Amino acid sequence: MKVHVVGVIGAGRIGKLHIANMKNMHKVRVKTVSDPFIDQMQDWFINSCVENLTKDYKDIINDPEIKAVIICAPTDLHIPIIKEAAAAGKHIFCEKPISFSDEETIEAYETVQKAGVKFQLGFNRRFDRNFAKVKEIVANKEIGDLHILKIQSRDPEPPSLDYVAHSGGIFMDMSIHDFDMARYISGSEVEEVYATGTALVNPEISKYEDIDTAIITLKFANGAIGVIDNSRQAVYGYDQQLEAFGSKGSAKVNNETQSRVEVLTTDGVKSDNPLYFFLERYNDAYIAEMSQFFDAIENNTEVPCSFIDGIMAQRIAQAAKESLLTGKPVKVKKL
Ligand SMILES: NC(=O)c1ccc[n+]([C@@H]2O[C@H](COP(=O)([O-])OP(=O)(O)OC[C@H]3O[C@@H](n4cnc5c(N)ncnc54)[C@H](O)[C@@H]3O)[C@@H](O)[C@H]2O)c1
Repeated sequence: MKVHVVGVIGAGRIGKLHIANMKNMHKVRVKTVSDPFIDQMQDWFINSCVENLTKDYKDIINDPEIKAVIICAPTDLHIPIIKEAAAAGKHIFCEKPISFSDEETIEAYETVQKAGVKFQLGFNRRFDRNFAKVKEIVANKEIGDLHILKIQSRDPEPPSLDYVAHSGGIFMDMSIHDFDMARYISGSEVEEVYATGTALVNPEISKYEDIDTAIITLKFANGAIGVIDNSRQAVYGYDQQLEAFGSKGSAKVNNETQSRVEVLTTDGVKSDNPLYFFLERYNDAYIAEMSQFFDAIENNTEVPCSFIDGIMAQRIAQAAKESLLTGKPVKVKKL
């Protein structure tokens, strides 16, 4: 069996999650992990599958044995790392979003194209079995023509203000998953966006010119319309629901819970809360996206979530931000 020798750049929340998943993938060897705060990670390192730690990601780029890099550093570092990794001939799995700037993203796209390496973006929700089934139902016209796509996407707790400062704002950081879901489920591009939002969870977020509560409406090229509601804090857990409504019916995904048990007493009916956050809710999807990245390298096939998918979701996020600032609907830049 072919072994993929991998370097991971950035060992924060998502980097550690991917490393833990790769530990169980027999055909993957995580040779090196880079993070400037690696000194504080010695306890974690001992129990990980990682062979070397370094503070400098260039040690990964310059290692000829490493054939693929997993980019999990903060978003504002993605572009230089993508360019350097592609120029060094490495296949790339990059966390979302690609960057905050359309120009820089297109430049990086050209570098990747020229290098001819694989590039997969981390839109993990595409790999969730429920959402994948709804996509199939919509594509097969089982619900007829799509009329309305409703996405309810609420985090259980807001990120730290330090994270917010570098996140690019709620649309780029959080809603971008929903923008990708909108394109993925509908099989259509989003043409126009109207967004409204405010800071209701933590007013301090406004200091970073950000919001934590939003409603975004979408107009699709295929004529359907969509609505996304986002909050950075749903006190009952990670609220991830979706409905595709069409001329012949509707397909709905409810929240995943620890168990399906309902307890009925004189006090009412109780069931479990939604699974707490992305680690619990989407771990199967994270495993699937990473496995399929290595399959695409091994079999020289198309990756399941491309650079173009990243560019288009980023453009919807940019349009949403402009709409929030101007109070008007904004057209999404076409490819
Ligand atoms: N797909 C998802 O569900 C998902 C979830 C969370 C985050 N993300 C994305 O992953 C990226 C990281 O987010 P996070 O939540 O893990 O953030 P984080 O702050 O927890 O982790 C980022 C890590 O990168 C490290 N880092 C900083 N500079 C570096 C450098 N020069 N080289 C190597 N490492 C460096 C930091 O020390 C930190 O440990 C972001 O782009 C974010 O949007 C995706």
